[in-house]
Amino acid sequence: MEAKPPSSSFTVVSDLVLPSETNPLGNLFGGDLLARMDRAAGIAARRHSRRIVVTASVNHVAFNKMIPLGSVVTVEANVSRAFSSSMEIYMDVWIEDRESGIRSKANEAIYTFVAVDEMGNPVPVPPLKPETELEKERYDGALRRRQLSLLLAKKIKPEDATELKALFE
Ligand SMILES: CC(C)(COP(=O)(O)OP(=O)(O)OC[C@H]1O[C@@H](n2cnc3c(N)ncnc32)[C@H](O)[C@@H]1OP(=O)(O)O)[C@@H](O)C(=O)NCCC(=O)NCCS
Repeated sequence: MEAKPPSSSFTVVSDLVLPSETNPLGNLFGGDLLARMDRAAGIAARRHSRRIVVTASVNHVAFNKMIPLGSVVTVEANVSRAFSSSMEIYMDVWIEDRESGIRSKANEAIYTFVAVDEMGNPVPVPPLKPETELEKERYDGALRRRQLSLLLAKKIKPEDATELKALFE
């Protein structure tokens, strides 16, 4: 399969924060943001693989900034690395000031999706070819994050997490 650049899976999902999606402080529920990111990541994974995709893992989410009622939230997602059947999706979450229109970064998140056939069995996906410096940086870190996720899921042994071990050497 021919390698694809991250731009071919680039996905932008913008939506308002409505009253039913907020907590008692009037800010967006974390779970609602997780669902918005899951949808954006799923579209990016589908664009890269052109297959049915399922969420395998939420690797990293940090709720760094409160997102108030009425905000316009934009999730930008793209595949940051593809393995055999799995894809790491990197997301940046932005909110924009109503008056100035200036965007500020609210969150980052990393999910793993797996391409599957109609029976739910994993199927191969095209490799990813990073182009920009940021894409290369995210690509390089993806192997380490994959090993951490598989280690926590007890799908690999600690001695096989070579990229993680290298961090401590
Ligand atoms: C995700 C799923 C397809 C993996 O199937 P599996 O039988 O474990 O298959 P494998 O062990 O061969 O793993 C397939 C790929 O998933 C990756 N994977 C599995 N669990 C993972 C995890 N916790 N973190 C990162 N990658 C993971 C494997 O590394 C492998 O990647 P590769 O093919 O690129 O090497 C399967 O567990 C599944 O269908 N889960 C439910 C998905 C779902 O319903 N999501 C929505 C939740 S509501």
